[in-house]
Amino acid sequence: MNFGTVGTGWITDAFIEASKESAGLTHAAVYSRKTDKAEAFADKHAVERVFTDLNEMAACDVLDAVYIASPNSLHFGHVITFLNQKKHVICEKPIFSNLKEWKKAYKAAADNDVFLFEAMRNLHSPNFKSLQEGLREIGKVRSMILPFVQYSSRYDKYLAGEEPNIFTTKFSGGALVDLGIYPLSLAVGLFGKPADASYFPVQLDSGVDGSGTLVLTYPDFTGTILCSKIAQSSNRCEIHGEKGMLLFENAGDMYKPRVVYNGSAEEKMLKADQHPNNMVYEAEEFARIIQSRDMEAYGRLKQLSYDVLSVTEKVRHENGIIFDSEND
Ligand SMILES: NC(=O)c1ccc[n+]([C@@H]2O[C@H](COP(=O)([O-])OP(=O)(O)OC[C@H]3O[C@@H](n4cnc5c(N)ncnc54)[C@H](OP(=O)(O)O)[C@@H]3O)[C@@H](O)[C@H]2O)c1
Repeated sequence: MNFGTVGTGWITDAFIEASKESAGLTHAAVYSRKTDKAEAFADKHAVERVFTDLNEMAACDVLDAVYIASPNSLHFGHVITFLNQKKHVICEKPIFSNLKEWKKAYKAAADNDVFLFEAMRNLHSPNFKSLQEGLREIGKVRSMILPFVQYSSRYDKYLAGEEPNIFTTKFSGGALVDLGIYPLSLAVGLFGKPADASYFPVQLDSGVDGSGTLVLTYPDFTGTILCSKIAQSSNRCEIHGEKGMLLFENAGDMYKPRVVYNGSAEEKMLKADQHPNNMVYEAEEFARIIQSRDMEAYGRLKQLSYDVLSVTEKVRHENGIIFDSEND
């Protein structure tokens, strides 16, 4: 399948590199708003087709699919443009600003008989499977703490009076939808949608959350997610069961998954043969689902994306964090 790319940031570089290791995806076109930038990006990735008009790119017969890594609030318009030209779409997280957009876009995907994926890379990696296996060892889960606390260099720009996209309501930014979404997706992937969720944000003057604590309520336990773009932590994640705990580093990569049983200091390492660029797994899985029309796997990912967005939308609105597109 030939795919084009929208967005010229480092994450697009990473997805293009990942696609080279997955059977079924060939990078065939780039889009950027400016010709110079588009040509430079195309040269860097040895691709001939260059677009500065999104509608022209979406209409290009050579393309079967697109990977979209534009600022969050633009995802919806970009996704719809490609779906309506019968292109499969892989869209970066957070897929949309709210459920209203999500429902319209998944309807457009179904109407055009194409697939739409949220690129939530941590859910497709071998380390995610290791965590699922590790959970079987620690007994009944009673609590967990999943931090994603990573100081952003863009916060320095924000403090200097600039308006980086991710720190604005105009571009549907904030810590929860940018970083909290990794541990939240992990929690929903491992345990399903929580019965309830509450968020305690630290709101910036721009209106978005610079950091916050998300509390997830499950029937037998409560989980805590810390997310921040304005402070730094070492990001060790812990899931606590009655027989032991599951530890791993970083909710985006889940490095070094391991179990420590109660009464022991020994760490039992779980299988972790993960590629340094864990986007290779999602690229491979999306291509596989499209080519084999695996509607069961597609339905599972679709539901997960919906459940995650329903949590972030609910807790945002409860805290008065409203994106500009929601004021229209
Ligand atoms: N999965 C992951 O690990 C991961 C990591 C990082 C980011 N992401 C996601 O990837 C997406 C892009 O993130 P990013 O940090 O690269 O965003 P960004 O720097 O704000 O923008 C991404 C691209 O969009 C275009 N753009 C920037 N500002 C724009 C504007 N005002 N209007 C129209 N287009 C604009 C630029 O491309 P051109 O100038 O070439 O048009 C830019 O390269 C986000 O949804 C983010 O959550 C995912």
